[in-house]
Amino acid sequence: LVTFFQPKLLAGKRVVVTAGPTFEALDPIRGITNHSSGKMGFAIARAAHEAGAEVTLVSGPVSLQTPRGVLRVDVKSARDMLAATLAEVPAADIFVATAAVADWRPATSAEQKIKKDGTGAAPTVAFTENPDILATVAKDERAKSGRLFCVGFAAESHDLANHAKAKRERKGIPLLVGNIGPLTFGQDDNQMMLVDANGVQELPRAPKLELARKLVGEIARRLPAQR
Ligand code: CTP
Ligand code: CA
Repeated sequence: LVTFFQPKLLAGKRVVVTAGPTFEALDPIRGITNHSSGKMGFAIARAAHEAGAEVTLVSGPVSLQTPRGVLRVDVKSARDMLAATLAEVPAADIFVATAAVADWRPATSAEQKIKKDGTGAAPTVAFTENPDILATVAKDERAKSGRLFCVGFAAESHDLANHAKAKRERKGIPLLVGNIGPLTFGQDDNQMMLVDANGVQELPRAPKLELARKLVGEIARRLPAQR
């Protein structure tokens, strides 16, 4: 007979998830962002909480409800997201980076609204690279030793499997999830590819919450055994 007490998959674990886009200011009014809806990250936060974890969701600007029981930290820029994440990961067992972090930000952000100068000339914007949150966390001693399990996401326009394999190695993480095109921004379902040291495995198209629950299972079975 089955046992009465089945511990939840992530009972006693702490999980940090980044989600949504970042917003990189040009001036107090304007900025640069992207089409990430945050849905996949929010679904993972919800699924991890359902699995018994204590979950912190570091979210860029999105219009989604916080999953029940999840602690949410709102941020705007990539640098804010990095700071909020670094404050949370030292106590975490799992870090899942779903955020669509802006790779570049305007090199300077004007303190006042940039006005037209009347000549028809357009301003030029110089960019500078943002910190890589996932790569920064993955370099950490706890991540290197396996005590902090890091999961990355990748959206590629072409040659997903090869880009995803290369990205997993470049970031130095045990698991990378590839979004199988077409680009799924804002949609409620998704199709994913899991890339780990053993190779590639596909998760067929399904609602994001269903995929999030499967992913939580895949993460749980890859965690180092409890002593
Ligand atoms: N990521 C991050 N911080 C960044 C850029 C990316 O934490 N500044 C994370 C994303 O949340 C995702 C993973 O890194 O989990 C891969 O993001 P992606 O944009 O696919 O990869 P990049 O390394 O930025 O490479 P590129 O955009 O050139 O493909
Ligand atoms: Ca990128």
